[in-house]
Amino acid sequence: MEKKGQHKDETFLQHPIFLFIVLLFGFVMTDPFQIGPVGGIEFRPVKHDIAPYKEVMASWPKDNRSRLGDGKLEFVNEVFGPESLEFDSLGRGPYTGLADGRVVRWMGEDIGWETFAIVTSNWSEKLCARGVDSTTSKQWKHEKWCGRPLGLRFNKESGDLYIADAYYGLLTVGPAGGLATPLATQVEGKQILFANDLDIHKNGSIFFTDTSKKYNRVNHFFILLEGEATGRLLRYDPPTKTTHVVLDGLAFPNGVQLSLDQTFLLFTETSKCRLMKYWLEGPRTGTTELVAHLPGFPDNVRINEKGQFWVAIDCCRTPAEEVLSHNPWMRSIYFRLPIKLSILARIMGMKMYTVISLFNEEGEILEVLEDRKGVVMKLVSEVREVQGKLWIGTVAHNHIATLPYP
Ligand SMILES: *[C@@H]1O[C@H](CO)[C@@H](O)[C@H](O)[C@H]1NC(C)=O
Ligand SMILES: *[C@@H]1O[C@H](CO)[C@@H](O)[C@H](O)[C@H]1NC(C)=O
Ligand SMILES: *[C@@H]1O[C@H](CO)[C@@H](O)[C@H](O)[C@H]1NC(C)=O
Repeated sequence: MEKKGQHKDETFLQHPIFLFIVLLFGFVMTDPFQIGPVGGIEFRPVKHDIAPYKEVMASWPKDNRSRLGDGKLEFVNEVFGPESLEFDSLGRGPYTGLADGRVVRWMGEDIGWETFAIVTSNWSEKLCARGVDSTTSKQWKHEKWCGRPLGLRFNKESGDLYIADAYYGLLTVGPAGGLATPLATQVEGKQILFANDLDIHKNGSIFFTDTSKKYNRVNHFFILLEGEATGRLLRYDPPTKTTHVVLDGLAFPNGVQLSLDQTFLLFTETSKCRLMKYWLEGPRTGTTELVAHLPGFPDNVRINEKGQFWVAIDCCRTPAEEVLSHNPWMRSIYFRLPIKLSILARIMGMKMYTVISLFNEEGEILEVLEDRKGVVMKLVSEVREVQGKLWIGTVAHNHIATLPYP
């Protein structure tokens, strides 16, 4: 009974007008005790430069059969927040980075999951690996210490694994695993605050994202709320051991993927709900262009054998969210209301479900798979297509989803 009433309220609250009244009310009682989500932090919303909600949703293909709902949840409560999934040159895996700071790998039914690498000598089993007590939601106090490996890629020739860790920057570890060696922790004399994903160029250079200069991973939600754009695409060159800024001023840069011929790379800008292209060769070298506006907030991009790109998208944008995104002053009040962030997000109609989408090199949408009811997955972070199967990672939950494909 109570649940039903609650649901009705939420739908009602999604009306921009009502939202406005809530905000006016907010003027009167703007979190004087700093217990709202942004209490105590310097929160300065800026205008999001984001494509109109209606336009994007109208042209976005729907998966009426909600085919992602047919996916299978595997390794439930064996892996905690497996964001990125990778396989080595022997086909072993998946390897994945967990909320407890470890990179683990699946060695088959007999052996199960084994620890492959850690990113810092700070890591200890006692502090970091507390089983279901070190999941993404519970690890916020410890991850700065234990590490949080997000992006994973093997160099297929050397067998070395490269890791983008949210706290320890860009690292690498040999084929036997162990303690990873830092490659890039600073750029232009300042600490890299939030390394997120990477890809390896055939010449050895590593392109990776640094999501924000202002907020770290635990506080990533503020990047979305504020609309701040201090993220970067960076490049590490092994011969000189130097790190360079390739692009600056990005809004939550997240996944990175080189194209098959390496003439360009794709990256996602999560706050702006879009997929971007950066040219590395040809007449447009050094320029950036839009590939697609997306219906929700994208995470990683991964290529398949045909050179097509899977994008993991957390859904979806809502009309109320759009009003807020165009009016920073509203956000500034709204998120100072002395109400928990999860409730504020729900009021905005941000029910979580999942969309994954396949693009070709020209940016055409080849496939859209949805799990509309959020049965199998609520937060996707990466899709890997390997030999007739999709492997789907999630930064927030404790499982990996799989789906036969095509
Ligand atoms: C899916 O449903 C929508 C609205 O219900 C409809 O407009 C669209 O044509 C359907 N798409 C397919 C592929 O069936
Ligand atoms: C241990 O963690 C602290 C806190 O994040 C950090 O400042 C320090 O550099 C870490 N030490 C090593 C060896 O990684
Ligand atoms: C590798 O190629 C990229 C893209 O053209 C370039 O930016 C980078 O400097 C190259 N790295 C090396 C080590 O030559």
